Amino acid sequence: MPDILIHADAGVTTITLNRVEKKNSFTQAMYATCADALEAAAADATVRVVVFQGDATVFSAGNDIGDFLSNAPNTQDAPVFRFLRAIASFPKPIVAAVCGPAVGIGTTMLFHCDLVYAGDNAAFSMPFVNLGLCPEAASSLLVPQMLGYHRAAEALLLGEPFMAEAALEVGLANRVVPPLEANGIAQLQAHKLAAKPLASLIETKRLLKKGQMEQVLARIDEEAVSFGTMLGQPAAKEAFTAFMEKRKPDFSKV
Ligand code: COA
Repeated sequence: MPDILIHADAGVTTITLNRVEKKNSFTQAMYATCADALEAAAADATVRVVVFQGDATVFSAGNDIGDFLSNAPNTQDAPVFRFLRAIASFPKPIVAAVCGPAVGIGTTMLFHCDLVYAGDNAAFSMPFVNLGLCPEAASSLLVPQMLGYHRAAEALLLGEPFMAEAALEVGLANRVVPPLEANGIAQLQAHKLAAKPLASLIETKRLLKKGQMEQVLARIDEEAVSFGTMLGQPAAKEAFTAFMEKRKPDFSKV
């Protein structure tokens, strides 16, 4: 089975993360597939809504750490940055169903989704500092806006996870539901959206996002430069190697 499944039905394109044995961690190939799917969905007048979903046990463990070591995305045209620009500027509504761990980009991509339905087992985390990295996906801009500065600092400096109820409280999730119902509820809401006039959906989303679209895209690029540099530095190498060797990282020398 492919790592990404794409299914179109009645105006709704559903993108399913399907690499459950590796906790749906994203390889560069998976970002490329998602970016291509978003670009195609944006251009296709028969598509009105996109849904991102994972499994009832896991949304995504973020970037594949082996891929970070062997295939580091250190140029702006790397698939991950193409995916981020595509999701941030996607003109039609995006609905997400999120259960279990949502790590790194598994959380930051949600800041670019319009409706988010979280399983009560959802655990959101952005442990970039713990990996010797820095925020991506404009999360350095969007997380403090949504969570407030101090909770953002806890999430981004300490890299501490927060659970579904906290996501609901700050507005990152629309509703918390039993994990086995999350994908179904996302589909229901997506089909409600798909029954509405496309031009109104697009214009409403454009107006909602207009206030800071330019800053968001500029921040994605600025973060990508730092992120790309940090990927090659000793702290990140130690963090990735430690993960692969199933041990705690030792940052005492970096
Ligand atoms: N990259 C590569 N492989 C990953 C991965 C990742 N981001 N996350 C999980 N995996 C792999 C594990 O290495 C393991 O592979 P194995 O069976 O060959 O040993 C498999 O997926 C299952 O993961 P495991 O850690 O045993 O599952 P868990 O349920 O105990 O924990 C997580 C789930 C998501 C909490 C944990 O896997 C994790 O913290 N992953 C790393 C998250 C991360 O730092 N991502 C980068 C963000 S930028």
